[in-house]
Amino acid sequence: MVDFTNIRTPFYLYDLNLLEKTVSYAMKEAARHGFVIHYAIKANSNPLVSGIIRDSGIGVDCVSGNEVIKSIELGFPRKGVVFAGVGKTDEEIQVALDEDILCLNCESVEELRVIEEIAKNSGKVARVALRVNPSVEAPTHHYIATGMDENKFGISLPYLQAALDVCSGSEHLDFIGLHFHIGSQITSLEPYRRLCERVNQIWKEFNISGYGGHILNMGGGLGIDYNDPEMNPIPDFASFFEVFSETLTLPAGIEIHFELGRSLVGQCGRIVTRVIYTKQGIGKKFVITDAGMTELMRPSLYQAVHKISNISSSGDPETYDIVGPVCESSDIFAKDAILPVTNRGDLLQILSCGAYAESMTLNFNLRDKPASLFMSEGNILKAEEYEAIQSMQSANL
Ligand code: LLP
Repeated sequence: MVDFTNIRTPFYLYDLNLLEKTVSYAMKEAARHGFVIHYAIKANSNPLVSGIIRDSGIGVDCVSGNEVIKSIELGFPRKGVVFAGVGKTDEEIQVALDEDILCLNCESVEELRVIEEIAKNSGKVARVALRVNPSVEAPTHHYIATGMDENKFGISLPYLQAALDVCSGSEHLDFIGLHFHIGSQITSLEPYRRLCERVNQIWKEFNISGYGGHILNMGGGLGIDYNDPEMNPIPDFASFFEVFSETLTLPAGIEIHFELGRSLVGQCGRIVTRVIYTKQGIGKKFVITDAGMTELMRPSLYQAVHKISNISSSGDPETYDIVGPVCESSDIFAKDAILPVTNRGDLLQILSCGAYAESMTLNFNLRDKPASLFMSEGNILKAEEYEAIQSMQSANL
């Protein structure tokens, strides 16, 4: 059992062995079908976490100019970088063109014209994929569904022809294919089957191959098990990829890409937090932790459930609301959670915090940014220490 007692809480704690296993399983299953993976770096841009993904040969999916720059600094090859986002600024488009990344995933006809103009002024040809809003429902929280008419993402089908015409009429745009992403934390494969069927139709109806389309990017969104992460630490990539392989009926030679975020990194991270106080309220007891929504915003923002356990106590079960210290009533990790009797000073761990936790930290209330630490054979190490051990081990091999 790892000794957490003398470490300043809260902190993010990563299990990079689990990450390596997850990534190599995803790569193995993708390779079976010849699929290409990009990592949605918005999920977690910690250098050691991203480094493992980069070393596996996975590319990167960015949603800001800074993510493009950071990915290249982290050593991801430029030709594996894709860049989506509904509101790319002129400066961000310029960065993408200067860095000569694989493609911009363009989300509107107006954006396409701006990309064309910027490419023309810089004497370049911009590789673009068109992000299409397929009007496919994803059963997830409405804040993380992206592929329906009401969502701001992608080009709606009635405007796809106009976008294709802009591409084919321009010397400064090189149309390479289509991009889709219907949402995040999708735990059923049915929506993906429906997406594939929709893509089959679109590809044919709009003669995408005829316009030079040879890449189909299906986005990400595969969910993880937040309820029982210890039982299901690695998502079922085999069944996920199988759906696309079975259902897509595209002409031969089309490259199929994915942008996986949460499914690669979600289970490799946790937050360790200390109980500052317990408090008896009217009809309920509170456990107040030193981590809050500033370190993990998901429960406040999407009513997300993360498994929480007390690693200091093994007393009788009690029911608590587990809340953070931030000056917001929505700063709640769990309502009516069952924990062993919990006291001031106990340590809790919040599981499944590898994705969209550290990358979504807030400075609200002028809170400190917590440390990111790494587990290695029963020890907890800083990034430098972890890297030193890794390089000693590889030198001894
Ligand atoms: N591709 C695009 C274009 C995306 O917008 C996203 C995520 C992904 C790929 C990766 O999705 P994933 O495989 O991680 O589901 N903060 C929210 C999730 C927001 C996801 C945003 N886009 C959460 O904590 O649940």
